[in-house]
Amino acid sequence: MTAPILVTGGTGTLGRKVVRGLLDAGREVRVLSRSDQAPYDGVEVVVGDLATGDGVDKAVHGVETVVHCAGSATGDDEKARHLIAAAVPAGVRHVVNISVVGANTLPVVSGLDRKMFGYFAGKRGAELIIERSGIPWTNLRATQFHELTFTVAEQLAKLPVVPAPSGFRIQSVDAAAVAERLVELALARRRARSRTSPDRGRTRSRR
Ligand SMILES: NC(=O)c1ccc[n+]([C@@H]2O[C@H](COP(=O)([O-])OP(=O)(O)OC[C@H]3O[C@@H](n4cnc5c(N)ncnc54)[C@H](OP(=O)(O)O)[C@@H]3O)[C@@H](O)[C@H]2O)c1
Repeated sequence: MTAPILVTGGTGTLGRKVVRGLLDAGREVRVLSRSDQAPYDGVEVVVGDLATGDGVDKAVHGVETVVHCAGSATGDDEKARHLIAAAVPAGVRHVVNISVVGANTLPVVSGLDRKMFGYFAGKRGAELIIERSGIPWTNLRATQFHELTFTVAEQLAKLPVVPAPSGFRIQSVDAAAVAERLVELALARRRARSRTSPDRGRTRSRR
């Protein structure tokens, strides 16, 4: 018997793919979700809310590895805080966290910065909370998923004229490839303290 792996955000675009990958690897999976839904494919769903901390202690109980995929436009630092507050006393041994390229480089100083790039500040805050938790951690930084790029393009296409800001570059990534890497990291036998190099998109490990 091995401990279940907790996937927060296991109902989302990325998390669903992570859950599938872990199941395919023969691992027992638990999902934390805000909504009460029937378990699928043998997955146990624990109801909880990372924004308030409700139910999170139950979700991490008996878990050694957490793949933290839950996220939204705001407050991801607070979500990480609640996750870690429950994970430390539960004896979790590895937190694999999905973050975003630019989290550590975009300066978010003014009120306007926060309005425009508060998401990145939240992701950086989450990274630091996890790094300072005392639990071995992995922060993987990904660029935007193709799905998001497509949604934005779809919205823009509704306008009579589509703005094309100069100097705007985007290099989106397949969420399936990100999920595959998260599964690999979660199943790695030796726990690593690692971070992804944003320029090369590879994981470096520090032991
Ligand atoms: N999309 C991108 O382009 C992109 C790029 C880089 C990194 N990321 C990061 O990857 C992660 C997943 O993104 P995604 O596109 O798969 O997101 P998504 O499809 O919008 O799914 C969000 C997930 O987060 C969960 N969640 C949100 N708020 C929660 C809360 N308060 N408590 C518990 N669970 C909560 C949702 O679960 P329930 O609704 O079931 O509660 C859902 O499973 C996020 O952390 C995001 O920042 C995304």
